[in-house]
Amino acid sequence: MLKIEITKTEIMTAEPMLGDATEFTNHNLEVLFSEKQIAERIRELGAEITRDYAKDDLVLVSVLKGSCVFLADLMRAIDLRLTIDFMSVSSYKNELQSSGDVEILKDLSNSIRGKDVLVVEDIIDTGLTLSRLLDILGSRGANSIKLASFLDKPEPRIKKQLKIDYTGFVVPNKFVVGYGLDAAGRYRNLPFIAVVKDPSRA
Ligand code: IMP
Ligand code: MG
Repeated sequence: MLKIEITKTEIMTAEPMLGDATEFTNHNLEVLFSEKQIAERIRELGAEITRDYAKDDLVLVSVLKGSCVFLADLMRAIDLRLTIDFMSVSSYKNELQSSGDVEILKDLSNSIRGKDVLVVEDIIDTGLTLSRLLDILGSRGANSIKLASFLDKPEPRIKKQLKIDYTGFVVPNKFVVGYGLDAAGRYRNLPFIAVVKDPSRA
């Protein structure tokens, strides 16, 4: 029979790791916006969008994957007849910043000709990816194209002229995660927005 021996030292070093910290109470995270604050802000944004688009044929275009949580909450706060669609793009990044070239990995399922489009994004940083995406969508005959971004990180902005029509929160120039935003694929499931204290441990 296989016998696994655990020494006393192994148990002692394992204990602090287990502690009371879970993925949501991870000590490397500092909460910036709580679940409650987010819910309140989404309600306000939804009411504003409902007023602004009262007579329009609205399509929410979510940019995967980061904006999926924002989309799911925002669409339920918009009391209008609407449809949703998804796009996935990859930006070619060099070591320091995104270059602004985007490759469409998944295009919209339906035409946006004549529609009022609201692009739903998780965060605008340099703005290069979104500017390019708006150029691409702008050539497809939509009636209007506006932008809703859950977070606005204005400091690294390169595309200064990029207009964000609806913003959830403005964040400092730090790496944030949660509510759809990731660090190497992790943390999208956090119900709040947090700053990663030590990115090398993210
Ligand atoms: P940019 O505006 O072209 O620089 O790229 C924005 C994209 O970079 C966003 O859609 C995110 O995927 C990612 N990003 C930028 N800042 C952060 C952050 O603080 N946390 C997580 N992802 C970020
Ligand atoms: Mg994104």
